[in-house]
Amino acid sequence: MTAAASAAVLSGCAGMDKSASAGASGDPFATASFQKILKDDFVSKGQASVDRLKQTKAQYECSKYDYLGQPLPDAIRKEIETTAQSKVVYPKDGQYLGDWKAGLKIAEDGKGLQWNDKPGTPNGGNCLACHKMIANDPSQGNIGPELYHYAKLRGNSEAILKYTWARIYNSEAFNACSYMPPFGEHHILTEQQMKDVMALLMDPNSPVNK
Ligand code: HEC
Repeated sequence: MTAAASAAVLSGCAGMDKSASAGASGDPFATASFQKILKDDFVSKGQASVDRLKQTKAQYECSKYDYLGQPLPDAIRKEIETTAQSKVVYPKDGQYLGDWKAGLKIAEDGKGLQWNDKPGTPNGGNCLACHKMIANDPSQGNIGPELYHYAKLRGNSEAILKYTWARIYNSEAFNACSYMPPFGEHHILTEQQMKDVMALLMDPNSPVNK
């Protein structure tokens, strides 16, 4: 997406008339002007196709209620979270932990799924862009909570392993409107990559727990 295109979409949102468009159809994104902006300003390029603009149910409902300035109704929240929970695929061999060194590379790597990335090559997880996970790296982001000393603080019980796996698989299982990418559900990371990232969080020798 170009800067000009994103600016156009943002101003398109801001310019929408909440009472008329959202109220009448119940669909805040249905206005002709907004649909025209999407159609005119975005083009498919390689694997980054405009199909990606089609919102999931969670994205749609969370954006809609955010736009209306209302809390997400409990029934919708529950449905999104329960559906996400029921679709989590746990490791087939029951082993949650891979290699933390490979996990660190994945956590640092923000590449993948963009038009100029080669399709079929492994994606990064970009965890450090949102989470502080290791000491002495000022480039880590803070959109998500700090995960430094993750297993040191919580232990590594079966319940923590399962919870952490499900979080990474699809964070919507715990928070319908989570900002965290659903790494398993959307096939961003493979099962082995998820195990490596799990080891980064859980292994006592990983820099996360040092
Ligand atoms: C775009 C930002 C973003 C990225 C990238 C991201 N996360 Fe998150 N993550 C969040 C946010 C925000 C939360 C807080 C909970 C929520 O929104 O549901 C979270 C929550 C978590 C939690 C639960 C923390 C707790 O206190 O229970 C774990 C574990 C986690 N993330 C691990 C990861 C791992 C591992 C990666 C990389 C594979 C990753 N995250 C990538 C934003 C992100």
